[in-house]
Amino acid sequence: MKIHGRAWRTIWPDEKGVAFGVIDQTRLPHAFTTLSIRTSGEAAEAIRSMIVRGAPLIGATAAYGLALAMREDPSDTHLAAAYAHLFETRPTAVNLRWALDDMRAVLAPLQPGERFDAAWQRAAAICDEDVAVCHAIGEAGLPLIRKVFETRKDQVNILTHCNAGWLACVDWGTALAPIYMAHDAGIPVHVWVDETRPRNQGASLTAYELGAHGIPHTVIPDNTGGHLMQHGQVDMCIVGTDRTTATGDVCNKIGTYLKALAAHANQVPFYVALPHTTIDWTIEDGVKEIPIEERSAREVTHMTGRLPDGSLATIDIMAPGSRAMNYAFDVTPAHLVTALVTDRGVCPATREGLRGLFPERS
Ligand code: MRU
Repeated sequence: MKIHGRAWRTIWPDEKGVAFGVIDQTRLPHAFTTLSIRTSGEAAEAIRSMIVRGAPLIGATAAYGLALAMREDPSDTHLAAAYAHLFETRPTAVNLRWALDDMRAVLAPLQPGERFDAAWQRAAAICDEDVAVCHAIGEAGLPLIRKVFETRKDQVNILTHCNAGWLACVDWGTALAPIYMAHDAGIPVHVWVDETRPRNQGASLTAYELGAHGIPHTVIPDNTGGHLMQHGQVDMCIVGTDRTTATGDVCNKIGTYLKALAAHANQVPFYVALPHTTIDWTIEDGVKEIPIEERSAREVTHMTGRLPDGSLATIDIMAPGSRAMNYAFDVTPAHLVTALVTDRGVCPATREGLRGLFPERS
């Protein structure tokens, strides 16, 4: 996608074998800066600290991180250690495991001397594949938006939560890909952007990337969506997911479940967009089986923003002495999901629906 007229991906090879580049998402929307990541340890820290975030981008960063590890030391021991170090950075997005498993499957059979080149190439291919997959999600989701437009004929109002746009992937995004394509096709879309406390990925990242693409949008407090739905101001919801079970339960940013409940109560379609890399075929019950990341309470007790002089400041917003809790994700049961929008097409959020699109998993 374009920023200030220049096409960007969120991750790119910098100098072959020496580094890869990323956008520092902790500084958006106030500053667009890039960072060079030079070691597998730095890659792990970028994921943990959310310099990079979003399920597909976490996977792509881990892939490049493992490639850098093979430059540091291509031995079996270091391959296992780097895999473990990257794997423990964030527990919920299954793309992390998917990318590390994919890389290990390529690298393990090779002689140590062959590993680095193969790893660097495979990491680049994972990024290219993610772009193609997100493009396919956009094409699968576009008809859903077009159908609403054909009945309404004025504007399609879409609510989204967190950031499942190009900043969360390598390009295009998942939930936002159909929205970009609808806008580019001349369909007037307007996006309700949940601010997404505590880290404000909606207000900071989704609003930033929609604005950069010229898509009309309005940021709303997280607790506004139900009211808008009651008043007919939301035509559909589209969100992303960090892990989808084999039966269609979806785990996404905390607060997604409440939006799905409100959508169900108000007969608003609730779509979840996902790449195949987000499906965890090994689990069936999302509520019981998906590990939910618990992050620092400081993300709840403090907020970062821009002061009138342009500098960034972090302030305390809590009553002194109060405790805070910070679960980063929740699970929306499949029965609340109208349909899954995947790179292989749209299907019901059921075991049969998913197996229909992915028969090789039957
Ligand atoms: O904690 P984050 O910012 O990594 O959470 C991201 C999300 O919840 C996204 O909706 C999800 O990863 C899907 S990204 C295409």
